[in-house]
Amino acid sequence: MNKILVKGGNTLKGKIKVGAAKNSVLPIIAATLLSDKKCTFTDVPLLNDVYVITDVLKSLGADVNIDPATCKLEICCNNILSLEPSPDLVGKMRASFLVMGPLLARYGRVRISLPGGCNIGTRPIDLHLKGLSTLGAEIETGYGFVEAKCTRLRGANVYLDFPSVGATENIMVAACLAEGETIIQNAAEEPEIVDLANFLNSIGCKVTGAGSDSIKIEGVESLNETNHIFIPDRIEAGTFMVASAITGGDVVVENVVPDHIRPVIAKLQEAGVQVLEGHNKVRVISNGVISPVDIKTLPYPGFPTDMQSQLMALMSIANGTSIFTETVFENRFMHVNEFRRMGADIKIDGRLSIVKGSSVLTGADVKATDLRAGAALILAGLFAKGETTISDIYHIERGYVDIVGKLQGIGANIEKIKV
Ligand code: UD1
Repeated sequence: MNKILVKGGNTLKGKIKVGAAKNSVLPIIAATLLSDKKCTFTDVPLLNDVYVITDVLKSLGADVNIDPATCKLEICCNNILSLEPSPDLVGKMRASFLVMGPLLARYGRVRISLPGGCNIGTRPIDLHLKGLSTLGAEIETGYGFVEAKCTRLRGANVYLDFPSVGATENIMVAACLAEGETIIQNAAEEPEIVDLANFLNSIGCKVTGAGSDSIKIEGVESLNETNHIFIPDRIEAGTFMVASAITGGDVVVENVVPDHIRPVIAKLQEAGVQVLEGHNKVRVISNGVISPVDIKTLPYPGFPTDMQSQLMALMSIANGTSIFTETVFENRFMHVNEFRRMGADIKIDGRLSIVKGSSVLTGADVKATDLRAGAALILAGLFAKGETTISDIYHIERGYVDIVGKLQGIGANIEKIKV
């Protein structure tokens, strides 16, 4: 079993580069199932989650080639043999559920087990199913599976009760092969939705309005080849920005779209951290004195729930009290217990966490309870006195490529150890 060992106290300095956005890569790989033509991608992040979604596609019959040396990925789904993704693979990762929309739209049938993923809430799929059924799918659920059927999906107006990222993606992709026009209202507006729409348009789909709350999709009959470049990962960028802030560092984070991380920049500045924006990069300079700021997570363009735990690590060393309100997931404070083991003073009251900052955190044995929580424990460990050992790091490796090596490159005392 591997763990991550962090010895706190180093000031981080230098340049660190962000990779492609996991949350773009996974839905786009799933969406390649729409087409029988080859899709090529460069700079694919070699994440565990990427291997899971490509294994899902392979298990259906897709021809998938990843070259780890060049990070080039080629997918061709011209020989799909199964419409039932392996439950073991789907159980490993919630994003696997995104194969439902394209399989249903292209083949008129899909049978898929209920998804797994980070344990941060009940994470139902009702909005996905409601949307697909509005497009004409007949859906049955039971025995841990969902089965959907249609002759051809029909365009329709779909109103989402909540701007779910995954439901917007599944419905948007499915609507690409539907007959006629679909409008998704109260759609998610995340940059990853825009990246997916750009990919879809590059293979010949007709999607407009992505990035707003109303997305229009005109169904098409045939698709073409593409070569797509993913957007950078705004959450990885935000994580490195906090690493600089929490260590009193001076770090240039490269391959960043500053517009994608406005709320993170704003909150760091409010906390007294200097953030200088450049072309596709940000420089984060901190004197280590952190003012408390309140954080409320919201759908994009609000503060991302995927950055909540990292900001909580930072606020646990602030010179005052801050309040965190988690509105997106109902169970996303599991990291609090782990922070407490390191001496943080945090109280939870339902969807609120009250964080009383302190100038001392102490290293401890802690557990990554989910992907972003694991990254946040690394951040706390970079500041803490002594050694922090983080277990269950497979969560972290789902979403960060070589986080240990990258942080070592800017001066962190961090290593992966075999236990
Ligand atoms: C995606 C991201 C995840 C991020 C989340 C919110 C990927 C692969 N994952 O997850 O990193 O934390 O967006 O920004 O892109 N909900 C329902 N019914 C549904 C679907 C969702 O009630 O049918 C609820 C969820 O339980 C949750 C909220 O909506 O409370 C947001 O979920 P959603 O936006 O769908 O997140 P994911 O797509 O799962």
